[in-house]
Amino acid sequence: MTPEHRPPTGTPATGTNDPLFGPPPGCPAHGLGPGGPHRLYGAGAEDLDDLYERLRERYGPVAPVLLHDDVPMWVVLGHAENLQVVRSPSQYTRDSRIWAPLLDGRVKPDHPLMPHIAWQPICSHAEGDEHLRLRNAVTSAMATIDHRSVRRHIGGHTQHLVNGFCERGRADLVAQFAEHLPMAVLCEILGMPEEYDDRMVQAARDALKGTETAIQSHAYVMDALNRLTLRRRARPEDDFTSHLVMHEARLSDDEVREHLRLVLFAAYEATANLLANALRMVLTEPGFRARLNGGQMTVPEAIEQSLWDEPPFSTVLGYYAKQDTELGGQRIAKGDGLLFAPAPGNLDPRVRPDLAANMQGNRSHLAFGGGPHECPGQDIGRAIADVGVDALLTRLPDVQLACAEDDLRWRSAIASRHLVALPVRFEPKPQQDTDLPPRAYAAPGLPADLRPPARRREPQGAALPAAVPPPRPAPLPPVPAGAPARGPWQRLLRWWRGE
Ligand code: HEM
Repeated sequence: MTPEHRPPTGTPATGTNDPLFGPPPGCPAHGLGPGGPHRLYGAGAEDLDDLYERLRERYGPVAPVLLHDDVPMWVVLGHAENLQVVRSPSQYTRDSRIWAPLLDGRVKPDHPLMPHIAWQPICSHAEGDEHLRLRNAVTSAMATIDHRSVRRHIGGHTQHLVNGFCERGRADLVAQFAEHLPMAVLCEILGMPEEYDDRMVQAARDALKGTETAIQSHAYVMDALNRLTLRRRARPEDDFTSHLVMHEARLSDDEVREHLRLVLFAAYEATANLLANALRMVLTEPGFRARLNGGQMTVPEAIEQSLWDEPPFSTVLGYYAKQDTELGGQRIAKGDGLLFAPAPGNLDPRVRPDLAANMQGNRSHLAFGGGPHECPGQDIGRAIADVGVDALLTRLPDVQLACAEDDLRWRSAIASRHLVALPVRFEPKPQQDTDLPPRAYAAPGLPADLRPPARRREPQGAALPAAVPPPRPAPLPPVPAGAPARGPWQRLLRWWRGE
């Protein structure tokens, strides 16, 4: 059943004088066109948070909305109802091939949300045994990641990025920090640290923004992932991609490449948003900074609060009903589509009657989804945000917003909301030896000969350097488990990996 504009059971039918959905479809007097103001695109999308609250008031925990081209969808606003959707694989699937508007041609092939909707051979769209096969390969490869070494990479990259602007006394923490750090760390994790540069960051941002150069930018990223897949197929090493290639699920090259794409793009976008949101909160909410400085709140707790208040993915498109059912008082028909919606779900007054109350110690937000598709990379996303924010605040303790809070701008889309820029100022600081991990993560007594080698400094500014492929350094030799440490480099690797 298509989500018609019907109120939940027991409430009066929507009339033409309804304050929210007032005009009848196409009413020229109101100029709203079909569907009225509950479109999640165009003018209707200007303040989605506000729209979700008005929908909650009008419809309760599940409301009908319209996507581009006025394609109908349900948005799930309730916390419990969102969990019910993601935890009920017998009733809801992420496989869009059963979505009625797609089957009957209402969703055209050039629909702007097609990249999110079109079925792909990846774990996020699969279910049942196929989902298990693909997801096991991803989670097994993730289980080989040494978290201590990842935290060191995060700390080291943070120092490099801060060195790039610390002497100037000002920076834009979105363009110069939040959009760089996750890419640097993900390139390390995947096994292609040499690919991390301004060009890769710009390409990923451009592809996600869907600008007119998005296709070329996407191709640039995919070319790097393709080369990585072929290199590791020919000669596996000890990294995420090699473990994905070698997994007993025997993923094809296409499947490996598509999962690298899923991990790179989803993780990059979500983590860049989380970093920007958390830094914005620290800089603009006085109570927040005071609690951090006074020790009543730790950085990980601040990150968790940000995951409640501004989840990096506001909604996930989508889940599809496998049978007629009921959700939050609405009748959902087989083939209907639903937006899993962490942003309004996290604000459900039934779980957060007082939005000002801090959620310290409570991790039951919806930012990472739930059920069989729950984000398998959440520890990495949290680590990038925790270590990155902590190391940045340690280097720049006097950092403050360099514009009026009201001047901050966001770019809103259905799936996420990005802070456009976060200008800050601080007393200029000297560069710091980036060979050392940040203060909080330095192991005491690290011998000088075990310090990681110096890396090149990060290029500054938004200009795109020419797309000259960076030189490929020789791969590091893997350190076999139990092998005796030989030179200082191998001892360093062991120390980084916590062996
Ligand atoms: C703050 C950071 C992150 C957030 C907020 C986030 C959030 C999410 C969400 C909401 C989903 C969809 C859940 C669903 O469909 O119900 C998801 C799926 C996924 N995420 Fe993340 N994510 C983050 C970081 C990462 C990282 C760092 C990685 C990998 C290194 C990653 C890998 C994945 C994968 C592979 C899936 C698909 C899982 C499946 O469908 O079985 N994510 N994530």
